[in-house]
Amino acid sequence: MYTPAITGTGVFTPAERITNAELVAAFNAYVDLQNARNADAIAAGEQAPLQYSSEEFIEKASGIESRFVMDKAGILNPEIMFPQLRQRSDDEPGIMAEMAVDAARKALAKAGKTAADVDAVICAASNMERAYPAVAIEIQQILGIKGFAFDMNVACSSATFGIQVAADMVRSGSIRAALVVNPEICSGHLEWRDRDCHFIFGDVATATLVERQEDASGPHFEVLSTRCATEFSNNIRNNNGFLRRSRPDGVADRRDMQFMQNGRKVFKEVLPMVSQHIADHMDAEGVAASDLKRLWLHQANKSMNDFIGKKVLGRTPDAGEQPNILQDYANTSSAGSIIAFSQYCDDLSEGDTGLICSFGAGYSVGSVILRRHG
Ligand code: COA
Repeated sequence: MYTPAITGTGVFTPAERITNAELVAAFNAYVDLQNARNADAIAAGEQAPLQYSSEEFIEKASGIESRFVMDKAGILNPEIMFPQLRQRSDDEPGIMAEMAVDAARKALAKAGKTAADVDAVICAASNMERAYPAVAIEIQQILGIKGFAFDMNVACSSATFGIQVAADMVRSGSIRAALVVNPEICSGHLEWRDRDCHFIFGDVATATLVERQEDASGPHFEVLSTRCATEFSNNIRNNNGFLRRSRPDGVADRRDMQFMQNGRKVFKEVLPMVSQHIADHMDAEGVAASDLKRLWLHQANKSMNDFIGKKVLGRTPDAGEQPNILQDYANTSSAGSIIAFSQYCDDLSEGDTGLICSFGAGYSVGSVILRRHG
């Protein structure tokens, strides 16, 4: 048996950024357009007018101030309201592979490793841009990695579930190292025409190198333990899928073919599930709240993170103990906790303990307890 360790992480951040002010201006222009188009039905009481969004609401309800996206123009065009991405030929890298490769190269450089040191690629994300071949295999080929690759999807928990799979394979000796990559184009499945959720998501890609601790060439984080859990819920759901055209109105512009959530219920049900999951995981590993130097949480909502941080530590976390990046990136699904880890892990000292936790649709929750070395 080998001890697994995270030896490097990398983040690809899209070049384009949308502030709340820009988002709300575009959304409200869309509302004016739609209400003018439907003026007769609205006047006759047959249809409710669409309502404006507001910057104040977004920041208060979520803590989000801006988000990065792969195509700003399409999202902000009130006649379009979704990203418009160039159709690539089958012979050039797909957009998810391209984002993931950028993050993976950064993770390899940080670990001081090359493709020759890696035996597996896991592409773990909320959405895949095609049914097959696996995006992970395309990434493997571009990076020149021998061995194998596969895709997996556990929505917002994909990264921590992927790290558990990678750590288990490293531990058993079936591989020396795996790259877990999380390319998330959340702008593609977000309903930008719905004010209840149009501010929630952003795009990004993260990568994590998990290898044998004995192969680490610099400072790294030993994976002490991982734990995953799922409980079925319809409160975060997207009905898009390969049977779409087989349904009577399946290819129509249907609301349920994008991200849908019952945000209040998610709040009420996921918070106790996550708090209990972390408490049980720490208890099982003999890690006390006072032992935890840092919490790198899923980045969906500031109040949610404040609540979990307080529950786990038994007090309000000090500034920096539970870093948030959601104000800059919004919710980037599985990648959020890895961005937080990547940006806020270098200052920890030998022996410090920290915990990554992600949670979301499924419901799903995954946690990784880490110890710093070097
Ligand atoms: N601008 C202005 N008002 C808005 C608005 C917007 N963009 N969106 C919603 N509102 C209104 C609502 O219509 C509602 O009005 P009402 O009280 O008259 O019905 C009011 O603001 C409150 O809406 P609500 O949806 O209850 O707000 P909330 O405080 O629950 O915040 C979320 C919404 C989505 C930010 C919050 O529920 C959340 O973050 N939930 C968990 C999300 C999550 O983690 N999801 C996982 C995804 S992977």
